[in-house]
Amino acid sequence: MSRPLAISADHIRVSPSPAGVDPLRMPSHVAVIMDGNGRWAKARGLPRMVGHSAGVEALKTTLRLCNDWGIGALTAYAFSTENWSRPEDEVNFLMTLFERVLQQELESLEREQIKIRFFGETKDLPKRLQELIFEATERTIGNKGIKFNVCTNYGGRRELVIAAQRLAQRCVSGELDPSSIGENELEAELFTAGEVDPDLLIRTSGERRLSNFLLWQLAYAEIHVTDVLWPDFDDVAFAKALIDYQSRCRRFGGLDPIEADQLGSK
Ligand code: FPP
Repeated sequence: MSRPLAISADHIRVSPSPAGVDPLRMPSHVAVIMDGNGRWAKARGLPRMVGHSAGVEALKTTLRLCNDWGIGALTAYAFSTENWSRPEDEVNFLMTLFERVLQQELESLEREQIKIRFFGETKDLPKRLQELIFEATERTIGNKGIKFNVCTNYGGRRELVIAAQRLAQRCVSGELDPSSIGENELEAELFTAGEVDPDLLIRTSGERRLSNFLLWQLAYAEIHVTDVLWPDFDDVAFAKALIDYQSRCRRFGGLDPIEADQLGSK
């Protein structure tokens, strides 16, 4: 039986951060490429679909941990524009799985003040799933808790093409002057408009690719790759990712502040 997403009513929200993790230097936004469901199942002699179902449990755990540890947003890559090329029965299974999970968890999302959004071309998804996506988005739009973004039929290149089309349309209609287009104008046309960029990208199963995920938004994200397969991603694996993240010096193209200080005082 699947565990409820919700942190129970008597749950103490201010859980301590895991050992070795500085609660004051948590990422504001974590993005995850949930890879390795198929391999996890294969290693157990099970059908790939069982791996995807186990992946849902790992995603719920990750969302709960983000909530507990004070991370403001979680974005998960659930289905890419390229995933349509998978066998039809796997695609159908995934669509039905998304529907079932949304149906089962909507009340918990509401109760826990989680704000869910979907990034991607949802208009090409099955009708029933589109309805559930609309309902979940609407019913949680005013929630003030953690932001949970699900990338479904999402492709980073496609997102940029759509943004370019929208900007071009606004120029043609005379609403926008092409010379006034800057990063802010483009960002406002992305699926992710209004969301802060991820600070940390976690990819499971050892693959070292972006796979067309958040190409614009990950420009300055720290990347943590783990060999753990997604269904096995738990509090220990997540804490390791956070420790790795906190060990990095984020320079955003500039200098390390200590180095800059030393140069300034010369
Ligand atoms: C990649 O592993 C995983 C996916 C394409 C699907 C991920 C979806 C979930 C975990 C379900 C999320 C549910 C909701 C409601 C958002 P893979 O199949 O490529 O694994 P492999 O590389 O080992 O074959």
